[in-house]
Formats: sequence, structure tokens, C-alpha cells
Amino acid sequence: MPLSDSRLDQYVVDGRRAEIQSHVDSLLDTMTLEEKAGQLNQRSVHFVTGTEDEGEELESAVADGEVGSLLNATDLETKRHLQELAVEESRLGIPLLIGFDVIHGYETIFPIPLAQAASWNPDLAERAERIAATEAAAAGHNWTFAPMVDVSRDPRWGRVMEGAGESPVLGSAFARARVRGFQGDDLSDPDTVLACAKHFAAYGAVEGGREYNTVDVSETALRERHLPPFEASVEAGVGSLMNAFNVHERIPASGNESPLNDVLKGEWDFSGVLVSDWASFREQIQHGTAENRRDAARKAIQAGSEIDMASEVVIDELPDLVRDGEVSEDRLDDAVRRVLTVKGLLGLFEDPYRYFDEERRDETMLADKHRQAAREAARESFVLLQNEDDRLPLDPEADVALIGALADSGEDTLGAWSFEGRPEDAITIRDGLEAFLDREVPFTPGYELPGDVTEESIEAAVETATDADVAAAVVGETAEITGEAASRTEIDLPGEQRRLVEALVETDTPVVAVLMNGRPLAIDWLAESVPAILDVWHPGVEGGPAVAETLFGEHVPAGHLPMSFPYSVGQVPLAHDRLPTGRPGDDGESAYATGYIDAPNEPLFAFGHGESYTDFAYTDLTLSTAAIESGETLEATVTVENVGDVAGRDVVQFYVRDLVGSRSRPVKELLDFETVDLDAGETAAVTVTIEDVDLAFWTVDREWAAEPGAFDIMVGHAADDIVHTQRLELLD
Ligand code: GLC
Repeated sequence: MPLSDSRLDQYVVDGRRAEIQSHVDSLLDTMTLEEKAGQLNQRSVHFVTGTEDEGEELESAVADGEVGSLLNATDLETKRHLQELAVEESRLGIPLLIGFDVIHGYETIFPIPLAQAASWNPDLAERAERIAATEAAAAGHNWTFAPMVDVSRDPRWGRVMEGAGESPVLGSAFARARVRGFQGDDLSDPDTVLACAKHFAAYGAVEGGREYNTVDVSETALRERHLPPFEASVEAGVGSLMNAFNVHERIPASGNESPLNDVLKGEWDFSGVLVSDWASFREQIQHGTAENRRDAARKAIQAGSEIDMASEVVIDELPDLVRDGEVSEDRLDDAVRRVLTVKGLLGLFEDPYRYFDEERRDETMLADKHRQAAREAARESFVLLQNEDDRLPLDPEADVALIGALADSGEDTLGAWSFEGRPEDAITIRDGLEAFLDREVPFTPGYELPGDVTEESIEAAVETATDADVAAAVVGETAEITGEAASRTEIDLPGEQRRLVEALVETDTPVVAVLMNGRPLAIDWLAESVPAILDVWHPGVEGGPAVAETLFGEHVPAGHLPMSFPYSVGQVPLAHDRLPTGRPGDDGESAYATGYIDAPNEPLFAFGHGESYTDFAYTDLTLSTAAIESGETLEATVTVENVGDVAGRDVVQFYVRDLVGSRSRPVKELLDFETVDLDAGETAAVTVTIEDVDLAFWTVDREWAAEPGAFDIMVGHAADDIVHTQRLELLD
């Protein structure tokens, strides 16, 4: 049955779809069971130990048609060589998909995805991925294992740096943008790559924030929190999804029929291809849901999974499973058809070598316009967490001392998941400041990475600060303690960086803090002791210049947090869209309201928080109507005024509360947002359109619907800074 899907078709020039389907049909008619299983077998090149025989084993497997896709091949020659073996040596000459983790850039490394989400500007992410795809494709890749769209409210989990934070709405906007960026307008263009939304599903809810741990979420939480960015990716026409390592309802994602077949391929009619995460087909054995490799292969394919990344249970077991009638050939054909179809969409059948062009590679990598886009993205991602007594921006004429080893680290400027990015290409904060000021800047590391201080390192830092008019302390996380396999039980600054900051604050020199981080951090002591804190995350290859332009006021920061910063790790998980509970404590009186005896319920810095060098005022939130019926829309409009002294950008946030539902509803949820650029004194009307589907949730009847009743529509500067509220009635 040909896979026809208008969402995927948007990436196919007219007329090619029919031709692709007929070619796929003709291949399927001639393929052996082993060749079909081969298309579902993905082998890793990078982790080949490099011994001669193992390389030869991979080469012969490719030449025998036993491999359908590769990952982690790095040099162009290896990719071309293996593609030639597949196309010219194997019986049917089916080209390989060649995948790679292009998470926030290829050689031009952009800010980490969580930082990009802090811009609240999905167009920025689309532009970044367009460039990333151009570079990755020029390096021989036709598939990226991105965007990561996992929603998470647990900063202990290191992989929050790969996503867009805690909001399904913000996450969906960035998911759509990233898919469009990678896949462009036509997947057969040699500068586009197949995107892969991951990790399906709910990996961001690992218990305890512990990597690879159990996930145990309700169907309601799955539907309302974790699935929306995947559905948004499918609606945007993503060509592939990747299964998560974790279980849902105690069943590993790779072998879980319900979210895969019932939701993804049933409700959403997804016609792309599903790849497992690393070895997760085989890991069903470790989960205790498969007896052996044969059982694991059977369960994965039957559940609706397709490509087996790196465990080889499919190539080893599937032909016999089909021969023995335990897996239907129809299911196998459906799986292989999906793989062949995306190869067709990529134009690989017409020209399997279109991604191998040394000249294009050399002129594409780190092109000036790419670096410029990375610098722009970095500037837009910075969040001014606080700026008491307007300590920022700094005066370029002032004697500035720079303290902190992170300021001098190319690797940490790039961040985790920057494989093909080179630290030597990164412009560090130290480089950026010296270039901006056109003079040498007094610098001392103050600590050894990740955060080891000595009396001597502190003394040197104090001395450097004492001689200056202002001290910029760069503190935070190394890339190494963020990303995959980097969960932390404490989320303070690592090591003894705090001792360094406290020593600096003891001097008479004013201190500003520049935070480099891959997750929200519990830094209440920093907020108490340092009046100005600029969060620059891991800002990418052009991070240094972007930080300098922002510290000295050439750029006015406009980032807003995509994830709450807790006072304490003990508050986690923590998010803006919490439920009220039966004892919300609104009266502020009862000792028996939900809460702690040693910490507040609220975060240190809330979702949506971000300051500026100017200020914005909101007046008269109006609704175009106070009541709508199902299927109708309304407009919410607020007047925004720049009441400060400099031009700046504001992120106007609209929230909603469903006051009564068949299930308890969050105290607020992000509904929509708009960015607006205003000169000092300028005003603008900012309007968002609301329809009943925006008010929907997973009802007690287990359907996605908006229930009639009263809603509060709110507008604010952050989840904890609501300025105006208007009542809306959804009529029966
Ligand atoms: C890793 C990650 C996944 C990545 C894959 C290939 O374990 O979980 O996000 O795409 O393996 O590197």
C-alpha cells in the first residue's frame, strides 16, 4: 500500500512521489527476506574499533546488502567508500542512509538547543538547522538524529540541554521550526537532510532525573506534556522518529505497540520511518520484556518499530521469524517500504553520491554567513537573570577584569553534542572581550575546570579583581557534565566555584556574573550576592563576540527562560504548569497547604523570566469577545510600551487557566507568545489568535477536547509575573 502523506509530500517536488512509489514497489517485489532485513539494519562506523577485520566485516556486510543505514561515519572518504559498496557491489544497489547527531550545528556550532529556545524565536532555530543541514549534507550525511523534542522539567537530567525546556507549546514551536530547517523545501536537494524527532516518548521524565531510568507517567501526562512536540513534528512532515530507551506503562518504547502503532501510525498517520535508539531493540532483554534476541526482534517489528540501530537483532533474526510465521511479511514490507520511500524522497536512487562533494564541503563549512548566524543566535539566546542597580551594561572605557577558566575554553564555549565542531574554531569569551575592546583584558582562570580552586587561584583572582573597575566572573558547567549520560544530583555550580565568587564579592570591585550552563542551576546564593547575572549557556562557536556585545550594551539581551530555575534541587521537578492541588495555599494562611517547610514552592527564576537593559509595560489586555462557541476564534490584544531608555525586544507571553475541568487543570499554561522590537518610548499592539483547540486537554473521556466553561486568559512578562487577566467563556 503506497505511503501517501501530504505532510511528507511538502518536501517532494511535484510528480516525484509516484515515481518513487513505483521504484519502491519494484524493489520490494524482488527483495529476499535477508535483503529486506538488511534495510532495517543500521551499523555504526565510528564505534568500529578500527581493527582491520572489523572494518572488513562491515564492508562485506554492506556489499552483501545486509546494511540499510550507517551512523557515526565521520570522514567523507569512508562514507563515499561504503556508499559505493552498497550501490555498486550489492545485488540491488540500494543506497545507504547515512545518519549523524547534528544537534546544534555541524562545524558551525550554534548555541545549545535549550539556549536557542531561550530566544523564543523559532525562526532562529529554523535558520540554524538550515545551516546545519547544509554543512552536514556537504559532509556526506543525508540524515540527522535531531531535533530532540523531549519535554522536561527536571534539570538533574543532563539532556535538557538538547531540548526546548518545560513547555509543550514552546517545544512544539521549536520542533516544527527545526524540522523545516533540516528538511528545507525539497528533500532531494543536496543541502537538505532527513530530520528525526526524538526520543519517542517521554524520555524527559526519567525518574529522579537519572539517565536511562524508568519513566512512569500517566496517559494524561503523556498526551498533554510529552506527545505534543512529536505531533507537531509529524504535522511539519518529519521523515523519521527515534524511539526512546525508556518504558511507557512498563513496556520499552521499541516494543510498545500503543504509542507507536495506535498513536503515531494510527491517530497521526505517520508514514515516515522509526529508528531505535542505540541498541534499544536488544535492550528489551535487559528490561526483562524479551527472552532473547529473537524475541526482541519480533516484539520491536510487530510493535511498529523499523530500523535497528546497532543491535543487529533484526538482521540476525527477522528472516527466520518471517519464515516461521511469527512476523508477517506484510509488516516487514511495510517497514522496508518506509525506509525505501525516505531514500527515494532524498533522491538517493537518482544520485546516491549527491552528498559527496569535497569542493562544496570546503566552501560550506564555517562560512562567514554561517558564523554570523551563529553569533546572532547566541545574542538572542542570552537571558539577563538579574541586573540590580543597572550594573550592566559595562562601560567599555572601564578597566574590566575577566575571571573564570570557562571564559578561556573553546570546548565549553561549544557545549555538548558538538562532535564535528572544533574547540579551536570557537571564539571564547576571553577572545571576544579582547577583540571587542581592542585591548588585552586582565584574565585569571580562578579555578581549574570543572571547578577546583586553590588558595593561590583565589588570591590571583582577588588580585586581578582588586586592580580593576569591575570584575566579570564567568562561572558554570563544563560541557562534559551536561548532555547524555550526565545526570547530576546537585545542580549548583560545580566544584568550589562558589568560594571564588564569594572571595571576589568581598573585594571593593563590583562583580558581574556570566553563567555558562547546560541546565537550570540552583544558584540562589549567586543571586543573593551578585547583582547582575547574564546567562549565556554554552553559546557556540561565536559565543565570545556575542557575550562581549551584550556585556557592553551593543546588544540588549532579550532571552527568556524556557525552563524554571529552582532555589533548590529538592524542589525538582518544577514547572510553571503545575496543578493547583486540593490545598493550593492561595490564602497564604494555612500551614496545611501544599509546600515545604524549608523552601518555597516557587522557582528562583520562573519559566519565561528574562530582564533587559530597558523596560516594557503592558496596558489593557482586551479580548475580541468574552465568549466563543466551539470552532470559533477570538483575539487577545495587549499594548506594549518600551518605557526604558534604549531599544529592545520583548517576549510577550500569553497564559491560560481552565478553571474547571473533568480533570484538574494547571494553574497556568503557556498559550502563545510573540516577540516585539520597540524603540525607547515606542508602543505596539500585540495580538494572538485563540481558538477552542488551544483550550483542549486530555479529558476524562480520553479524548483531546476543550470543555465548555470559564477560562482566564493572562498576559505577562513571565509565568510568575502576570500583568493582566481577562475571563473567557467557552459556550456549550
Ligand atoms: C545516543 C542517543 C541518541 C543518539 C544516538 C546515536 O545514545 O540517545 O539521541 O541519536 O545514540 O548517537
